[in-house]
Amino acid sequence: MTEPTLGLVCCSAGGLEDVRAELIKPLVTDGWRVAVTVTPTAAEWLRSSGEFDLIEELTGISVRDRPKLPTEVSPHPTVDCYAVVPATANTVAKLALGIADNQALTQVCEAIGGGDVPVVVFPRVNAAHAGQPAWTAHIEALTRAGVHLVYGHDVWPLHAPRSAPGKILPWDDIRKAISRVVSA
Ligand SMILES: Cc1cc2nc3c(=O)[nH]c(=O)nc-3n(C[C@H](O)[C@H](O)[C@H](O)COP(=O)(O)O)c2cc1C
Repeated sequence: MTEPTLGLVCCSAGGLEDVRAELIKPLVTDGWRVAVTVTPTAAEWLRSSGEFDLIEELTGISVRDRPKLPTEVSPHPTVDCYAVVPATANTVAKLALGIADNQALTQVCEAIGGGDVPVVVFPRVNAAHAGQPAWTAHIEALTRAGVHLVYGHDVWPLHAPRSAPGKILPWDDIRKAISRVVSA
């Protein structure tokens, strides 16, 4: 593979503010193309911080935050892998159930269902998200579907809600998981 392409999906969770510096920039430096799609709330956050434009500048590809019109051509290239980083509890639940009510979910739900494009997910959740009664079933459903989860006490010990603002995401584990699935 000459120039691998990552479809990066970002949600409105902690760590979103570091995605450009900690994930996109190292991947671009390593020769990846990165096509970013964000949830509607993540788009608001990135626009208000100025990161939305900076990501487009860095990748040279428009950031998607809405579905295209039926008459429009997709602005994104075909991808070799999807990564959902950070993934909110909300988006993880929707992915497990196949709910595709925004552009980010549409892309990843199709990849999970199609089974041809590997999907890496880092759930940026706390102990209350993981204690929600449906959570375990969501994680099991995604695992059964072949989704590569960066998840568990060793990579992301769960914290109490609002107790860990600014908690650093396990960027190294996330980057390694992406490289691993593409070279597999
Ligand atoms: C400041 C702030 C931080 C948040 N951090 C998280 C988080 O780390 N993980 C999470 O699952 N939800 C978090 N949320 C809640 C999500 O933003 C919210 O559930 C949102 O509806 C998710 O939408 P999305 O999945 O479409 O991005 C946070 C909300 C706020 C306002």
